[in-house]
Amino acid sequence: MQSIAPYRQAAAKASRKGFFAMQLKKASQRSGIIGSADDVTSVVLAAMQDAPNARLRELADAFVRHMHAFAREVQLDEAEYGIGIDFLNRIGQATNDSHNEGILFADAIGFSTLVCLLNNGSGGATETAAALLGPFWRMKSPHTENGGSIVRSPTPGPDLFVAAFVKDAAGRPVAGAEVDVWQSSPVGLYENQDATQADMNLRGKFITDAEGRFSFRSVKPAGYPVPTAGPVGDMLRAQKRHPYRPAHLHFLIFKPGFKTLITQIFVDDDKNLESDVVFGVTRELVGDFRRHDAGAPPAVDVKPPWFTLDAAFVMAEGEARLPVPPIK
Ligand code: BEZ
Ligand code: FE
Repeated sequence: MQSIAPYRQAAAKASRKGFFAMQLKKASQRSGIIGSADDVTSVVLAAMQDAPNARLRELADAFVRHMHAFAREVQLDEAEYGIGIDFLNRIGQATNDSHNEGILFADAIGFSTLVCLLNNGSGGATETAAALLGPFWRMKSPHTENGGSIVRSPTPGPDLFVAAFVKDAAGRPVAGAEVDVWQSSPVGLYENQDATQADMNLRGKFITDAEGRFSFRSVKPAGYPVPTAGPVGDMLRAQKRHPYRPAHLHFLIFKPGFKTLITQIFVDDDKNLESDVVFGVTRELVGDFRRHDAGAPPAVDVKPPWFTLDAAFVMAEGEARLPVPPIK
């Protein structure tokens, strides 16, 4: 009869091998030596766990887990990895004092709107009066008298008269709030993108009066394409997406004691209202732009048709913080 001793010896050797493999794996995780693809995520997470800032630890941990899960899910190949890194580098290279490709990318993949909704409107449960900031807010727009014009150089388009009311959650007027307003010209460019417009054209800073009101004169905005010369443009073309935003006005309302309200009001008849390239439209943000073809115009130099917009903004109590300006 054949002896089973050699099999016993082989089995013992195999089990010792398994045991040592386990030990080596644990040690490699401690030392950072990578045994296989399965090890990478836990080794990286372990390397980051001593960050003293608990929130940074949480963010970095989740970011690494999700990035690694993404690569595993799509079985990312090396050429695709290279394209992704090049895309990121090009976002950085395309960003300068008057253009922010990073914000444009976050906007174009709906990330800015997601973060906006998660932080407003009962943590994302309800519609909100807030909207994404976009890449074109400038911090130092010119102080303008209530009722004044933000048209600072000849600008085509029908006249627009905006009258707005800022209130708190209980409906009481918010007096003394600073309101930044900005919009593109009806040719589809912000002044910082267009040498033919005066510096700060279609931008202004107003202060709400004792009744929480502010008002100004402008031109009715038109829809426009987001900048497409950089990597975000390449992405949109590859995805067969149009680059248009529906016509809108931007507002940033700041007063200590209230959460800074960053929002937009959209023109109700714009054909791209339902397909904003940056996913910024909620029903609450669609304005009631009224066209006037006859009657007494609001100023002597106004020819019909002109438009009026009445708007109300509700500010929630909270911390008044200004965002980092996307451009200078
Ligand atoms: C804007 O409305 O100013 C804007 C927002 C997101 C991307 C590009 C432009
Ligand atoms: Fe805009």
